[in-house]
Amino acid sequence: MINVALDGPAGSGKSTVARLIAKKLDILYLDTGAMYRACGLKCKRLGLDAEKEEDVKKFIDGIDLAIRYENSAQHTFLDGEDVSEEIRKPDVSMLASAVSAHPCVRVKMVEMQRNIARQTDCVLDGRDIGSYVLPDAKYKFFVTADPKIRAERRFRELTEKGMKVDFDRLYEEILERDYNDSHRTFAPLVRAEDAVLLDTSAMTPDEVVDFVLSRITKED
Ligand code: DC
Repeated sequence: MINVALDGPAGSGKSTVARLIAKKLDILYLDTGAMYRACGLKCKRLGLDAEKEEDVKKFIDGIDLAIRYENSAQHTFLDGEDVSEEIRKPDVSMLASAVSAHPCVRVKMVEMQRNIARQTDCVLDGRDIGSYVLPDAKYKFFVTADPKIRAERRFRELTEKGMKVDFDRLYEEILERDYNDSHRTFAPLVRAEDAVLLDTSAMTPDEVVDFVLSRITKED
């Protein structure tokens, strides 16, 4: 079984790279952030407070969340509706970060992720894949980049999709999410000791992909 864990902060480029690597290796790509985003969206739709675990506990056990693949692209379904686009909005990013701090959410999402990884060769990107979800994954990478560069990448990505976003606000949100994601008590964003550290600030996605692939083939 090949499991590749790609962890790192928001905007580090890990999702672009994870997608490309999965394509090259012809294996599944699982974007675990999308699952936390769907939980954040559910909170918003129910008018609940994502910061409060007692609010989140009201729906998390019965959440109707599904991941499906269409032409190799991941689609995230919430209550039977494809929410893949909606979960990319900046307000949902912040809700995802808040909601993902609660152990009741992580236990549920991690169980789903482990089930998928057990059955299928896959590349998973997230915050805690190498450190917590799949500590025995054969390949682990921790991808990071300067926060300003990460904000610029996010800005470009969202504007290309036609979303109106303010750069300074996006930058602040990236810093806030970095802080939240790495300071939560349960399975925080952290580099696993055996993960290869990669600073992508001055690298193109193709360069990152080549580096990761070279490590994978070299060791096989
Ligand atoms: O990777 P992303 O930006 O789509 O993730 C959205 C939020 O979900 C992020 O701020 C933290 C959380 N997350 C997490 O806690 N653990 C993961 N494995 C993936 C994402």
